[in-house]
Amino acid sequence: MILKRAREIDTMVEAAQINREALEAVEKLVRPGVSTAELDEAAEDAIVSRGARPAFKGYRGSSASIAPFPGTLCTSVNEVVVHGFPDRRPLVGGDIVSVDIGLFYKGYAADMAKTYAVGSVAPRIQALLKATERSLYAGIEAAQPGNRLGDVAAAVQRTAEAAGFWVVREFVGHGIGSSFHESPDVPNYGRAGTGPRLRPGLVLAIEPMVTESKTDVKILSDGWTAPTVNGSWAAHFEHTVAITEAGPRVLTIAGAPIYDPMLGGARGA
Ligand code: MF3
Ligand code: CO
Repeated sequence: MILKRAREIDTMVEAAQINREALEAVEKLVRPGVSTAELDEAAEDAIVSRGARPAFKGYRGSSASIAPFPGTLCTSVNEVVVHGFPDRRPLVGGDIVSVDIGLFYKGYAADMAKTYAVGSVAPRIQALLKATERSLYAGIEAAQPGNRLGDVAAAVQRTAEAAGFWVVREFVGHGIGSSFHESPDVPNYGRAGTGPRLRPGLVLAIEPMVTESKTDVKILSDGWTAPTVNGSWAAHFEHTVAITEAGPRVLTIAGAPIYDPMLGGARGA
């Protein structure tokens, strides 16, 4: 578990703000008829033009037999939980698309994701999006210095399950810094009061993945695309969060504010 100095957190804020701006550029394009490849091109332009480098493109997983990730974005549509490949098929009204974006800037990584409704989606799917975003903010709220990692996990799980949904176990959040994935793993399920203590200087990518119903997640033969086994649709929201003496600081929100219950506008809305 690597603790960052204040100067390093300052640089991570710069990286995270570029990442946020790039996702905002992508978000403006989401509508029926746009392809995820077009979203990917916009993301890459936004990242490169700001002097940063996409983190996912060319990323090699642990297995040498799997091709490197091909996109700047992971674009995961409907029943795909994470790691979907951008492609030329147009999105259709009623779809949802998770857009996961990561970059390196001045030697530090940033990571975030949001799931968007394309046009208008079924009420239950709208509820899935809201509950997943609320579970992210519940996790962030629990990421107080002195709390434990299990407090974050339990807050995410409780919030998603209270809304009647299922939390994915197969993928987890992670520490982040000069490497994209650092220890500790940040699961979205667990018990409050357990696990390592959160200390100022720790930076976490908190990223709940939530499905409509209880299901396993599989991986397609491309080695990446991860859909639910039972066809449930999935949502994914992620922020990069620094633990500070003053509380959790959300680096991938404009101005990188310390968490305040108002941030989860999401929570009430
Ligand atoms: N946000 C994801 C993560 O936390 C994205 C990784 S995609 C990959 O790992 F291509 F980089 F693997
Ligand atoms: Co991540």
